[in-house]
Amino acid sequence: MANPSFWTQANALLRKNLTFQKRNVKTNVQLVLFPVILCLLVFALQCVIDTQFDKPEFKCGCVCRNNRTRCADSEKVCGIQYSDLLQAALCAIPKPPQWPPLLQLPEPSNRAVRTASLPFSDFPDASCRITDSCPLTMLFTAENHSLAQTVTASMFGSALSMSDYYDRDIYATSAMNVLGSDSAPGQNNFIEPAFSTGLPIYYLQRNCSDAEKFGLSLPIADNEVELKCAQALNLWRNSSSEINSELYKGYYGGNTEGQVNEIVSAFDFLNSNENRYNVSIWYNSTYGRHTNVLLRIPRSINLISNSYLQFLLGPGTKVLFEFVKEMPKPESNFRLDLSSLLGTLFFTWVVLQLFPVVLTSLVYEKQQKLRIMMKMHGLGDGPYWMISYGYFLAISVTYMLCFVIFGSLLGLKIFTINDYSTQFVFYFIYINLQIALAFLVSSIFSNVKTATVTAYIGVFGTGLLGGFLFQFFVQNTSFPRGWIIVMELYPGFALYRGLYEFAQFSFEGSISGTGGMKWQNLSESTNGMKEVLIIMLAEWIVILFAAFYIDQILSSGSRKSPLFFLKGFQKKTPFPNLDTQMQVSKVFSQMEKRDVIQEKEKVEELLREPTINHAIVCDDLKKVYPGRDGNPDKFAVRGLFLSVPQGECFGMLGPNGAGKTSFINMMIGLTKPTSGAAFVQGLDIRTHMEGIYTTMGVCPQHDLLWESLTGREHLLFYGRLKNLKGSVLAQAVEESLKSLNLFHGGVADKQARKYSGGMKRRLSVAISLIGDPRVVYMDEPSSGLDPASRKSLWNVVKHAKQNRAIILTTHSMEEAEALCDRLGIFVNGSLQCVGNPKELKARYGGTYVFTMTTSSDHEKDVENMVHRLTPNANKIYHLSGTQKFELPKEDVRIGDVFQAVDAAKRNFTVSAWGLVDTTLEDVFIKVARDANAFDTLS
Ligand SMILES: *[C@@H]1O[C@H](CO)[C@@H](O)[C@H](O)[C@H]1NC(C)=O
Ligand SMILES: *[C@@H]1O[C@H](CO)[C@@H](O)[C@H](O)[C@H]1NC(C)=O
Ligand SMILES: *[C@@H]1O[C@H](CO)[C@@H](O)[C@H](O)[C@H]1NC(C)=O
Ligand SMILES: *[C@@H]1O[C@H](CO)[C@@H](O)[C@H](O)[C@H]1NC(C)=O
Repeated sequence: MANPSFWTQANALLRKNLTFQKRNVKTNVQLVLFPVILCLLVFALQCVIDTQFDKPEFKCGCVCRNNRTRCADSEKVCGIQYSDLLQAALCAIPKPPQWPPLLQLPEPSNRAVRTASLPFSDFPDASCRITDSCPLTMLFTAENHSLAQTVTASMFGSALSMSDYYDRDIYATSAMNVLGSDSAPGQNNFIEPAFSTGLPIYYLQRNCSDAEKFGLSLPIADNEVELKCAQALNLWRNSSSEINSELYKGYYGGNTEGQVNEIVSAFDFLNSNENRYNVSIWYNSTYGRHTNVLLRIPRSINLISNSYLQFLLGPGTKVLFEFVKEMPKPESNFRLDLSSLLGTLFFTWVVLQLFPVVLTSLVYEKQQKLRIMMKMHGLGDGPYWMISYGYFLAISVTYMLCFVIFGSLLGLKIFTINDYSTQFVFYFIYINLQIALAFLVSSIFSNVKTATVTAYIGVFGTGLLGGFLFQFFVQNTSFPRGWIIVMELYPGFALYRGLYEFAQFSFEGSISGTGGMKWQNLSESTNGMKEVLIIMLAEWIVILFAAFYIDQILSSGSRKSPLFFLKGFQKKTPFPNLDTQMQVSKVFSQMEKRDVIQEKEKVEELLREPTINHAIVCDDLKKVYPGRDGNPDKFAVRGLFLSVPQGECFGMLGPNGAGKTSFINMMIGLTKPTSGAAFVQGLDIRTHMEGIYTTMGVCPQHDLLWESLTGREHLLFYGRLKNLKGSVLAQAVEESLKSLNLFHGGVADKQARKYSGGMKRRLSVAISLIGDPRVVYMDEPSSGLDPASRKSLWNVVKHAKQNRAIILTTHSMEEAEALCDRLGIFVNGSLQCVGNPKELKARYGGTYVFTMTTSSDHEKDVENMVHRLTPNANKIYHLSGTQKFELPKEDVRIGDVFQAVDAAKRNFTVSAWGLVDTTLEDVFIKVARDANAFDTLS
């Protein structure tokens, strides 16, 4: 039969995996439900939030009259001017209102006064603070003092000037006079808070008359504002550095008293003259530092320009600054995109969720030793990796598609607003990385439960650490970027960062309407996505290679050294010889029985003229386990010579711990021989195990089965691995099931988890025989079987051995006798005898066993009687009246024994007696006892 091709193997594995997946409906549904439920949860919360924000308080400009919180619609007044600041931001404003331009003024209690640290005589006395009537100070300096003096002299008028044309109109007033407010500015100019907070508006004058201090009111929008006079002081300073130091000292904490001494603004005329206007202006920007507000600066620029113009062209000239106003804008809704806010943490969990799934599946095959079982039946590493990887990738891609599509259908912004191609690339690279990582991590675990628990702790821990620690570092701009990159080397954080960036873009994009992340955004310095993609891609490649490399070492048992890829460079050492054993072997060889020596000679002859006819040839095979913790080395197999031709079933008998399993493990490639060689179909087990696997069948001592696959599916899989196809495969599986009693009562289509121990055993045997392997190893195939099943198993093996070599270990002499053409008794790591059952019995069983039971008074009489029959009789057993003797066959005739017993019966009461020819069991016990006796001697 041709060796199965790469694609045959891949096909077999793929079909098995698909069946496996089909069985796991519950797990699959749970898996897909998880993202769906999370998406629905986010969606539901989003709906709640949206309905909350649909209420009037979050809509443009309607309030109840008289400041009531609830009222009928008819009692409401609407319009931007009734909106508070939040609402105003949402209003449609086709015609933004005009607002009188204002100066930013310090509050009366903060206005600059004379103090110990600001001892200038021109500052007002601190007593003005009691009446809240402190003047507003402005500082100025220039290269030409007289020029500056002249210019600033005309800055403020001496009386409130009202144009007749705009009588008592705030805009006209603000254009003709300098108005200011000490209220905090807003974020835009749709609403000027100065006119709605109820604080007075100040008009600045050189001096306020007593009458003016009480103020008057002017209409604006629907309100009346109170207009109050405030005195403005223009103070000359010799240099700009002086101004600087005064401003600094006035600032909270700048002076020793811890007092605030605020100055409205300061001007430096620099080198200005009649022909040149060059001014710098100081203003207080602290208002805007945290809340991103609009500063009231334009009026101060107009103020100084206007004064300069009047200096040039005379007091009649004025540049009137009537109002400020925003650009028109459409109405917007207040929307809080929850998917972006919560998304990062939730969706990190969703994506990480795949990791335990892949890991568990890999560890399961490892725990159940299924990987090695598949390998022993010919599955190569190439197809295994390709299909396993592709299979997990397909599952992951499906899962992610469900997730993204479902999220998009629900309209979650994080999916809909970001570019789908960036999302695809990001998720695709990540799931690849995650699968490679699972392959790598699976080598650490040997137990599914531990792996699952650890993986889930990892998933939730990563999410939480990401949300509460990593994100904090990312947002903190002073945290060194280099360390963030280092943290992103942990794939969970890389995922978190990527999702975080998507969320940032979708959140900001949905508010500002600019859209989410696109490819060109990757180049932005604040966008961490580029680094994340590079890190993940590089890590994926590295981890994939590492995982493959470690898998090569582990999956092949100890056959490959960790440096296996250097093998080509290493000098091939001649056969290693182990001097330690030489001594022992020599002693043994003297003791060796004729048949064992014959076997050795046969092997040597075969090796001189290799023929394919001998399926198995073992040449001085040895296995030594190095002693640990001061124990001596353990010789599991000490120099085994054996040849098994095609068509023979060779039985290996031996007590527990004799080395049978060590021998089988070497032959099936689980362990490497310490020295010696073995050839299977002419291929060396040390170098060509891969080739041997394709012609080999193994029934291991412990059943290695997939719990959720049926018996038929197992056989189909292994059959395909062995290159069976189509109707041949179906027929082979059918026959195999029938012959091993697995066909009736639907057993074949039950999952293996429901099988009894015996059924599993029969399935294992069926697996080892499917696909016509040339060599089959069966490690105690019939253990745990009921007599009927055992009989049918024997028939199968008998039938199977016709055209293949079978090595079978067993504890059942009956089985050995029934099945095996030749037997070897294996004790203490070496064969004690080899031969067919009859020969062995004849050679070792040259005795009859005579048993007689009497009352204990007559034991001596029995003994005497036996010694009369033959003086060479040997007592082997004695217990309260029952005695067993071995009688050499050449000394006694059966007739004599009967006569002696008849005579004895006349003398005393014989309750029972018997005479048996030797059984194989006797041979076995005898051989084992002899070998052990030798062992204690040596
Ligand atoms: C300063 O300005 C005045 C006009 O205001 C001018 O007459 C005078 O020459 C200037 N002084 C210098 C030193 O430029
Ligand atoms: C500015 O300089 C003049 C002389 O150049 C001096 O008399 C005056 O005291 C100085 N003013 C201040 C506030 O230092
Ligand atoms: C600027 O304004 C803030 C806020 O009112 C105030 O705390 C600070 O002292 C002012 N700074 C100066 C230099 O006046
Ligand atoms: C304005 O003043 C600054 C500072 O003294 C000076 O560097 C700059 O050249 C002046 N500009 C003009 C046009 O003279």
